[in-house]
Amino acid sequence: MKISYLLLLPSVIGFTWPWQNNDNGEDTPDEDNDRNPYMPYQTQCPSAPLIREASNVSESEKNYIEARYEKTNEALIDFLTNVAQLNNFDAEDFINEYADDHNITIGLAFSGGGYRSMLTGAGSIQALDSRYRPSLSRALGGILQSSSYITGLSGGSWLVGTLIFNDWMTVDELLYGKGTEVPIWDLEDSIFNPNGINVFRTASYYTNIGTGVMAKSREFRTTLTDIWGRTLAHQFMPFEGGENVTWSSMTELPSFQDHNVPYPIVLANGRYPGTRIVNLNSTVFEFSPYEFGLWDPTVNSFISTKYLGTYLDGGVPNDTESCVVNFDNAGYVMGTSSTLFNQFLTRLDEFDVNALLKNIVDRILQRVERGDNDIAAYRPNPFYNSDYATVDSSLLEDEQLNLVDGSEDEQNIPLYPLIQQGRDVDVIFAFDNSGDTETEWPNGSAIIHTYRRQFAFQGRGSPIPFVPDTYEKFVDEGLNTRPTFFGCNASNLESLVAISGNEDMEATDIPLIIYIPNNNLSFESNTSSFKLTYDEEERFSMIQNGYEITSRSNLSDDRQWPTCVGCAIIRRNQERFGVEMSRECQRCFETYCWEPSEDDSNLEAVQSLADQISSLTATEDSSSTSSDSEVSSTSEPSLSSSTGDSTTVAALSTNEASLNSANSETSRGTSESLDSQSSDSGGTINNLLLLLLISFILNLF
Ligand SMILES: *[C@@H]1O[C@H](CO)[C@@H](O)[C@H](O)[C@H]1NC(C)=O
Ligand SMILES: *[C@@H]1O[C@H](CO)[C@@H](O)[C@H](O)[C@H]1NC(C)=O
Ligand SMILES: *[C@@H]1O[C@H](CO)[C@@H](O)[C@H](O)[C@H]1NC(C)=O
Ligand SMILES: *[C@@H]1O[C@H](CO)[C@@H](O)[C@H](O)[C@H]1NC(C)=O
Ligand SMILES: *[C@@H]1O[C@H](CO)[C@@H](O)[C@H](O)[C@H]1NC(C)=O
Ligand SMILES: *[C@@H]1O[C@H](CO)[C@@H](O)[C@H](O)[C@H]1NC(C)=O
Ligand SMILES: *[C@@H]1O[C@H](CO)[C@@H](O)[C@H](O)[C@H]1NC(C)=O
Ligand SMILES: *[C@@H]1O[C@H](CO)[C@@H](O)[C@H](O)[C@H]1NC(C)=O
Ligand SMILES: *[C@@H]1O[C@H](CO)[C@@H](O)[C@H](O)[C@H]1NC(C)=O
Ligand SMILES: *[C@@H]1O[C@H](CO)[C@@H](O)[C@H](O)[C@H]1NC(C)=O
Repeated sequence: MKISYLLLLPSVIGFTWPWQNNDNGEDTPDEDNDRNPYMPYQTQCPSAPLIREASNVSESEKNYIEARYEKTNEALIDFLTNVAQLNNFDAEDFINEYADDHNITIGLAFSGGGYRSMLTGAGSIQALDSRYRPSLSRALGGILQSSSYITGLSGGSWLVGTLIFNDWMTVDELLYGKGTEVPIWDLEDSIFNPNGINVFRTASYYTNIGTGVMAKSREFRTTLTDIWGRTLAHQFMPFEGGENVTWSSMTELPSFQDHNVPYPIVLANGRYPGTRIVNLNSTVFEFSPYEFGLWDPTVNSFISTKYLGTYLDGGVPNDTESCVVNFDNAGYVMGTSSTLFNQFLTRLDEFDVNALLKNIVDRILQRVERGDNDIAAYRPNPFYNSDYATVDSSLLEDEQLNLVDGSEDEQNIPLYPLIQQGRDVDVIFAFDNSGDTETEWPNGSAIIHTYRRQFAFQGRGSPIPFVPDTYEKFVDEGLNTRPTFFGCNASNLESLVAISGNEDMEATDIPLIIYIPNNNLSFESNTSSFKLTYDEEERFSMIQNGYEITSRSNLSDDRQWPTCVGCAIIRRNQERFGVEMSRECQRCFETYCWEPSEDDSNLEAVQSLADQISSLTATEDSSSTSSDSEVSSTSEPSLSSSTGDSTTVAALSTNEASLNSANSETSRGTSESLDSQSSDSGGTINNLLLLLLISFILNLF
């Protein structure tokens, strides 16, 4: 097979991996000319402090959003007038009248789920994009232009990153190339073997990746995530491999400078030192163009994204003359949000692989267990000894910050940044392309987890509307198969505000959520999160299906869809300023809104749910065996009304697929998905072994 062929290759043709030489020679790569473009380097520190308290959005973000409002207000007037075509409604008057008090602020959130999520999400983007002409008459064209924020995690972060770093190209341009540029999303060959059978080109691809990661590892801790991020970048970046492209450099792109893009944010979870599990107390880190950090009480600070990699103690660089830049490689950031491949690593031993390879893999796996090499290492930890946490937190005591896939806490839709009060979001489009069920369809898990987290310690203060609070209810009501609006009536959300303990908050500050789940409209889009290759037709069908999900089958399922979306968008400002809802919108809300029963939404019921969640976490906490962390191998209360081992499952599995080593039933599910993966992608497992092998040669472990 390809892998064994490659193994033999060096000895057959006298080939040496280029970095093998570099290692012995004590060459100094300090001069800038010799510096590998992937390698972080020292530069002058800025005069402003690098760290700030997470009390509000940053000045830079505020300025961006303010400038962006000029675009979104105009686009929204267009959408409401020409696409939504609301009856007896003067969009221009409405938008301008309240512009001094509150501009309508829209956020788009794209869930995790590997390429499934990226491609389905791309179809959704197309349906929201006024640059794609058919969307003006058959979908929601103009929402993309009206949005202030776009968030992604894991596979969703690939979508967001690809669009941004290709200077806000349309999905069509990405797929079919623009002028002479290479098309970006060529998924015919696996990311681990991008040139198919051509081993020479494959070797040079790995040489490029290997040399860069090796260079970084001279001064910084590198992990598998570095390699993963580099392979992702090769697929998503316009320039050869994107090795010199940093996340913060997006601010220099023309589309960003012109405020033509929604402000992008991608997420990763923090993992406490020495633990594997992430629960309701999870820490949700965000990477925005200007800042990296989190709102949670355990850290409650942000650092300038550009200066990640700088040694900071208590927020102050230990060498005030020199700060590190180029650590925030864009591929590395996307890799951090999607450390999914960890799952492969821990399961590879189940496959029939050749003895030599197995030996190597075993050795690597031992080290992975020991060294936690399945995380993204942010070392130095920017928040080391920093001052703004409001509780004791071991995250601040470690010199290394460990980040993992943004879906590991099961909040698989990146809602969290959008429910921060400082961002003033009115409406969130939540695109749920999770693979929750055995057949890889969403079952509400993602949004239910964010709903419940508002009652746990870390999530207090940023409420989201009521949703059905078990999978069964969610699925029974069919909410997993069609778009639904949550939180239509702010006056029903008072109890959530009361429980949040947030005194500055009004119920109208809680965004309305337009939830849009993955579903089969024209294509069985429930592909495995681990499917790594898509031929052109599959890719096209996935995107078209995503388009149809978002456009309600090109409006053929409901001609009123754009109107109803329009009603949802103006709803909060109507409530805020006491404007009556139209008859037309009332009918829409009857169709699309989900409301909890009075019994579930009154203060008493909410209080009791909140108590239940805190007491359950507390009990589990005390029974925890691991002592060195606050978030140890505990789990959250079961979300499933069926009893049994669902609690452990929820705690141990990621949302992507139930990859749970402690539960035999789920492991069966997993090997099935890996099996089907290897047959449909023609050797993905071998390609993964290749990746491991390269890592081994690089001596990363
Ligand atoms: C946060 O910033 C916004 C926009 O500048 C401002 O309206 C709001 O008062 C600020 N909130 C706090 C708590 O400072
Ligand atoms: C609303 O947007 C306009 C730009 O169209 C801006 O001038 C105004 O300050 C914004 N209002 C608020 C409250 O941010
Ligand atoms: C990265 O390198 C490419 C060519 O190798 C160049 O065109 C591009 O401007 C560079 N980008 C940055 C951010 O330096
Ligand atoms: C800053 O801290 C790092 C890690 O402890 C160390 O390697 C480096 O030499 C320090 N620099 C200065 C100027 O103290
Ligand atoms: C729903 O999704 C969760 C999380 O992925 C999973 O643990 C649970 O088994 C699923 N429930 C059903 C009924 O599919
Ligand atoms: C996709 O869904 C269909 C029906 O729900 C199911 O038969 C099929 O096995 C699923 N495919 C995968 C890869 O799970
Ligand atoms: C919103 O809820 C309140 C209180 O339950 C109710 O009085 C009001 O009629 C509702 N408004 C709409 C538009 O449904
Ligand atoms: C998926 O949708 C297509 C087109 O509507 C249909 O032919 C197919 O049977 C559906 N598959 C499943 C499993 O429902
Ligand atoms: C939606 O429109 C596309 C063309 O843009 C077409 O290929 C597709 O079949 C349509 N789907 C439905 C369900 O009408
Ligand atoms: C969450 O954190 C709070 C405060 O540190 C603690 O009281 C609670 O027990 C924690 N819950 C879990 C599940 O770790």
